[in-house]
Amino acid sequence: MNVTIIGTGMTKFGELWSSSPRSLARIAVDAALQDANCEKKTIQAIYVANMLSGMLGMQAHLGALFSEELDMYVPAYTVEGACASGGLAIHTAIASILSGQYETVLVLGVEKMTDHKPEEVSSALMGAGSNEERLAGATFPGLYAMLARSHMKKYGTTEKQLAAIAVKNHYHASLNPLAQFQKPLSVETILHSSYVADPLKLLDCSPVSDGAAAVVLQKSDMKKQHGEVQIVASQVATDTLGLAQRKSLTELVATKRATEAAWKQAGISPEDIDVAEVHDCFTIAELLAIEDIGFVLKGEAAQKIERGCFTIGSAKKTVINTSGGLKGCGHPVGATGVKQIVEVANQLRGRCGKRQVHDARIGLTHNVGGPGATAVVHILKK
Ligand code: COA
Repeated sequence: MNVTIIGTGMTKFGELWSSSPRSLARIAVDAALQDANCEKKTIQAIYVANMLSGMLGMQAHLGALFSEELDMYVPAYTVEGACASGGLAIHTAIASILSGQYETVLVLGVEKMTDHKPEEVSSALMGAGSNEERLAGATFPGLYAMLARSHMKKYGTTEKQLAAIAVKNHYHASLNPLAQFQKPLSVETILHSSYVADPLKLLDCSPVSDGAAAVVLQKSDMKKQHGEVQIVASQVATDTLGLAQRKSLTELVATKRATEAAWKQAGISPEDIDVAEVHDCFTIAELLAIEDIGFVLKGEAAQKIERGCFTIGSAKKTVINTSGGLKGCGHPVGATGVKQIVEVANQLRGRCGKRQVHDARIGLTHNVGGPGATAVVHILKK
């Protein structure tokens, strides 16, 4: 592939009461353009990733909105794929460069969730699931709780093992000044948090968040290259919207399909990945990702996580969710997939301070929409 990441930027993630989507976008984009040493006039198109603005904020037409806010009147597109909107926008932007349409483009992921009542956010998020399951009363914690129960039944996974995922990601978040949560948590604290959807507790869930992230992508053979991070694979796969139509509830088939295509495209295998940001909207989601991506065999992730296999400082190979993941860094849904690219690109450029993975050379991002209905996988190389 012929695409380079030349600039990255993001806001802090969290409950950002005094910020608007416009101000969040400006901060992330200014940082990315500055990092790319790139003037606004170099950008030929903007891809905006967002899921909820139309439903919660009654503001659609975000391509035009952010063109106006950024004073960049170029073709602008909004890409929506639920919580995978960010990854999907990156994929779409890459396709536009590979097609020869543009040479330099901006991808902006932005979401403002905390201005709205929790029940409104919950029901808007269920727009990513099947209508039948929504009408039956399911929420996202409920859908992932069913996946957790199935995994527990088939592989003997325990609530304590799921808690170890939250411990790892909150520890990583404590090393990330832009993360929503800044304190490490113990297994006991997680196990004593209240049930949201049995067996998932409050501290098994990603939070409701605000934030923005931006990336500048450029055709690789341009004369002026500022970054050395290449995108060597970009793949999207889909599965049924509803869980009821699935043959298995202990794997996400879209993750498997997207990842297998990405390995082929990049000519590498799971053992080559030094650092990965995977979609941990719930602790069980990270466990499934670790298995479905192929970092371990099916049924083996829980014990390995408990042994610290994917934690900064104790991992032998792949470190997972150095940003804190969705769980600790926060999950402003449309921004998440772009933030994953920001984090992995910065790891490969050696810019991650206390959470830097030594000599990271190859990284992977995995972004999921709904209960696994869309999966987007990117592989990045120094
Ligand atoms: N992880 C860690 N801490 C969390 C948290 C989370 N997921 N959610 C809330 N908190 C903290 C808050 O900061 C707050 O702490 P404080 O009292 O020190 O300020 C406390 O827990 C209570 O927060 P509150 O906002 O009242 O929680 P809530 O009950 O309204 O919401 C959830 C909790 C888990 C229901 C909500 O975060 C949620 O719906 N998460 C899932 C979002 C989702 O489905 N995303 C899409 C995935 S596909």
